[in-house]
Amino acid sequence: MSYRDYTKYFVTGGAGFIGSHLVDKLISEGKTVTVYDNLVSGKKKDIEHHIGKDKFKFLEADLLDYDTLVGAMKGYEVVWHLGANTDIPGGNRVTDLDLKNCTTATRNVLEAMRANKIGKMLFASSACVYGDAPPQALSETYGPLHPINLYGAGKLACEGLISSYCHLFGIQAWMFRFANVVGARMGHGVIYDFIQKLKKNPKELEILGDGHQQKPFFLVEDCISGMICAFDKTNKPYDVFNLGTETFTNVTRIGEIVIEEMGLKDVKIKYTGGARGWPGDVPIVFFSTKKINGYGWEASRTSDEAVRTAARRLLGNE
Ligand SMILES: NC(=O)c1ccc[n+]([C@@H]2O[C@H](COP(=O)([O-])OP(=O)(O)OC[C@H]3O[C@@H](n4cnc5c(N)ncnc54)[C@H](O)[C@@H]3O)[C@@H](O)[C@H]2O)c1
Repeated sequence: MSYRDYTKYFVTGGAGFIGSHLVDKLISEGKTVTVYDNLVSGKKKDIEHHIGKDKFKFLEADLLDYDTLVGAMKGYEVVWHLGANTDIPGGNRVTDLDLKNCTTATRNVLEAMRANKIGKMLFASSACVYGDAPPQALSETYGPLHPINLYGAGKLACEGLISSYCHLFGIQAWMFRFANVVGARMGHGVIYDFIQKLKKNPKELEILGDGHQQKPFFLVEDCISGMICAFDKTNKPYDVFNLGTETFTNVTRIGEIVIEEMGLKDVKIKYTGGARGWPGDVPIVFFSTKKINGYGWEASRTSDEAVRTAARRLLGNE
């Protein structure tokens, strides 16, 4: 059985940036979908166009509310688990934010799946699990993994919980370590931040760090098609995939692209300095996508192209 054969999808974090795009895709393909989201960073307006449709249900609820979660999941076949804290610096300040909204939340999702005998999970992990690893194309077998922020630590703990639940309770899981996912509806991340800063002050852009931080960016629709590709084409009890591109964009270049797309001229770029934008920032993210590429999936754009497309979409120019 594969993506095509399953009809009932439970999407945690489905009102978020990636989640709402996923829901659009699932609904467009005739699936039955429940979105479970507490709207802490997700937005009702991004799923509003589905409210009232027969096959769509939205529950504004918290993953930490186990009783509501276990009841809501009844009758579903696949859980797409995207709900989590996504404010990485915030999670370093409030040190139990990721522990609760990523790790404990994931434990609750797994328990609720067990109670409802739901056998399939797709999980949004992150490149952050690699921490400050050497700048080389890291494969999924790279280790030991030493995250350097509490968000990454939370994701790694989730991967451990998921693999254990798979081993012990017969759940099957696909875990995806995403690079930076970009597109319309983004409510966080460097492109979004630069646009907000430049709207406030079109004469100056402050860049956190020295601007040399270098990361792979890929579009949200590619992220979704990559997860579906792995779900369709692989069948291990649990498996992990890097999802992104092996091309990169540095932070200064992102600033330049955003400035160009906003049609601004003579913008002074200021740097706060230092190799990291903020404590816990990983200056160079570089991982191999060979594993997922081997199943025929590839990001449709280079990292620079994805950044430009995302900036255009956020600005309403595409
Ligand atoms: N966007 C990226 O570049 C990226 C990279 C790596 C991993 N991820 C992961 O992908 C997933 C989706 O991220 P996104 O970019 O769409 O961010 P997002 O913030 O837009 O989505 C997260 C969603 O989870 C919901 N949520 C958070 N805590 C919750 C809780 N306790 N109960 C119920 N709902 C809760 C939020 O309201 C939001 O809708 C997250 O798990 C994130 O960690 C994203």
